[in-house]
Amino acid sequence: MKSTHHLSGKLHLTGRSHFIADEAPVAGMLHAKLLFSPIAHARIINLDISKALAYPGVHRVLGAKDIPGPNQIGHVIKDEPLFPAEIIMYAWQPLAMVLAEDEQAAEAAVKLITLEYEELPPILDEETADAAKEWYVPERSIESGDVDSIFASAPHIMEGKTKNAGQEHFYMEGQRCRAIPFEDSRLLLHCATQSTMEVQEVVSHLLGIPAHDIVVDVPRLGGAFGGKERAATIWACMAALGAFVCRKPVQVKLNRDEDMRATGKRHPFTSLWKVAYDNDGRILAYDIQLLANGGAYADLSVAILERAMFHAENTYHIPNARIRGRACRTNLPPNTAFRGFGAPQGIFVIESVIQQIAKELALDPIAIRMLNAYHNGDKTPYDQEIKECQISAIYDKLAEKAAYDKLKADVAQFNASHKNHKRGLGIMPVKFGISFTTALLNQGSALVWVYIDGSVSVSTGGVEMGQELSTKVAVVVSRVLGIRVEQIRVESSNTQRVGNASPTAASTGSDINGNAARIAAEKVREQLREPAAKLLEQNSGTAVSPEDLVFSEGKVYLLSNPQSSVSFQDLIGFAYVERVPLGAYGYYRTPDLWFNREIGKGRPFHYYVYGAALAEVELDCRMGEHTLKQLFIIHENGQSLHTEIDMGQVIGAAVQGYGWCTMEDLVWDDKGRYTSANPSTYKIPGIRDLPENFQVELLPSQSKEASVFGSKATGEPPLIYGLAVFFALQEAVREVKPDAVLSFPATPEALLLSLK
Ligand code: MTE
Ligand code: HPA
Ligand code: MOS
Repeated sequence: MKSTHHLSGKLHLTGRSHFIADEAPVAGMLHAKLLFSPIAHARIINLDISKALAYPGVHRVLGAKDIPGPNQIGHVIKDEPLFPAEIIMYAWQPLAMVLAEDEQAAEAAVKLITLEYEELPPILDEETADAAKEWYVPERSIESGDVDSIFASAPHIMEGKTKNAGQEHFYMEGQRCRAIPFEDSRLLLHCATQSTMEVQEVVSHLLGIPAHDIVVDVPRLGGAFGGKERAATIWACMAALGAFVCRKPVQVKLNRDEDMRATGKRHPFTSLWKVAYDNDGRILAYDIQLLANGGAYADLSVAILERAMFHAENTYHIPNARIRGRACRTNLPPNTAFRGFGAPQGIFVIESVIQQIAKELALDPIAIRMLNAYHNGDKTPYDQEIKECQISAIYDKLAEKAAYDKLKADVAQFNASHKNHKRGLGIMPVKFGISFTTALLNQGSALVWVYIDGSVSVSTGGVEMGQELSTKVAVVVSRVLGIRVEQIRVESSNTQRVGNASPTAASTGSDINGNAARIAAEKVREQLREPAAKLLEQNSGTAVSPEDLVFSEGKVYLLSNPQSSVSFQDLIGFAYVERVPLGAYGYYRTPDLWFNREIGKGRPFHYYVYGAALAEVELDCRMGEHTLKQLFIIHENGQSLHTEIDMGQVIGAAVQGYGWCTMEDLVWDDKGRYTSANPSTYKIPGIRDLPENFQVELLPSQSKEASVFGSKATGEPPLIYGLAVFFALQEAVREVKPDAVLSFPATPEALLLSLK
């Protein structure tokens, strides 16, 4: 369906979209400022707050001792205190919170707190942590075929170590929460979170009050990218604690610098791999160990590691695979969800491997990928059957779009005739599994109300963060009720309207919430059939069967006689008088998902999204600077609910992935303190970094496995396309130094070093 409406577009453009920062000031609100740890690992000897407490305007200084319930904010794994009572685990860990009448007073008072500590040695990298067996849970493994016997007899064997760096989320709106006490002992939290349920649950445990006393409301987020799925909880807990203890509104709000220093990021991984292949370049066996740098607390690291493992083979059918993973505890801020959730890390390794095999055998990089590609009926290493695989068709389209054969010849010719500038091509196929790998999260609810003027209000547990979930949910409801998208309001995500909502994450926002909204809207529509038939009968004087009615274009009409119709609005007025319910609740759970960790087998995903990218770069070998000359993307997404929004998601994600692997350089010192903690030292892609020729094509597909109205998720998978640029740069470097292996991210510095 051609769609141009975008519910937030006009609001964003005119500055009228409402974020938490736009909430009216609340009388008597206290402002929180935090004492952050100067050190990554230490034992606390003494924390003296007396001077801070005496500072004018300060109401309270709160720390570990002031928490009414258990000092525990861990969710999946309970290993994280709100404020550490004894052991500091990362630099910039919050240690205490000053609550004052204004921010200046709070800030001044924080400086008066004195901390005495005994320094402990920090572990900062995953390899050291792994050697010390610092894991949150024992090793996970997935195995298929017979890896050892293949390695014993394979014609070619190669091994290596591949590393990827982390990435800062760089959402525009920083971490924040405003907690407002109201009647009895209740709290209203305006919270920048992707997960209303988690915030409610964790605050409830921390304060020892029932969940129904905590209302979490999320109007919309100024970006999240996974950085507010779990990592928002800690700040919400602080605001809630402050409001609970003081019985006053409390605001916790990090500035950019604090946010970048104190919050976890994408996981750096180190992967040790071994591959067996034949003379044609067919992969016979793959043995990989993935080590994730999880930071100080488990957070979502184990789930992220698992998703990396589920994506370790990407688009390739590898009959003999051993995939092991260990999530390692280090003294960095707890690394967390970031668009792709481990999949980019797993995919990066196998793509590095396949590029290496292509080089060894002098094979075309697309040809070797097609040779190894999945076909329908193949099984993944975890035993999920591949159905409706699109990858071969996608390569054909990509090669055609990029005029691949000519491009390859042009690049070769350019390289033959230029000494200081080299061009390279990179290919990046993607197969991305859609569903939370934690099966229980794949459920959601929606509430639909039709008011008596015919306007509609929809609530889901989904959080709007720029991905325009609200428009997609409205598109779904508009199709069911046959009314315009503009007639539909999608409300904030609020625990009072939709409880027990899973995080808006895993790219499942529109699948889960769209389906729940569809089910609710269908109930409303079915409730309207009787009154509609009655009204049409009254108007026409002939008998009408409720089954004969069509809801479309703002009307209800008879399929057998489209001339006989009533407007949706008139119908609603009539239905109200007839005392017919004009609201409904919808519940959806994704069918047929399971995974058994003990045996490493199951069907963790409802379906896969496929796509591929091709990048052309030109590298200035003296400067280490590159230009991204061309980026082509073919992205399969079923029957799109909204092609412009999906296009925006693909473009934005690909550029975000490009930034990750080429310019975003997270640096910490030997004491584990981030030194690249603001935009002057941490470079994200800007408008001038866009490729000179950027072509994205959405490939519609008919998929029985797809989700609401045949659509497929778009949120995360396209981030991985950005990695095509990394491989293109590596090819360019290899024009000068054939054996070079580029380090990650491929900054100008890294590129120059690899050319040395
Ligand atoms: N797009 C924008 N503009 N802002 C975001 O924060 N987050 C991404 C993706 N697209 C994000 C975004 C991530 S990490 C996920 S999981 C999905 O959106 C979540 O939304 P969806 O499931 O509704 O696509
Ligand atoms: N993706 C994103 N968030 C999650 C997942 C996942 O697969 N599992 C648990 N939280
Ligand atoms: Mo997205 S990383 O699943 O929030």
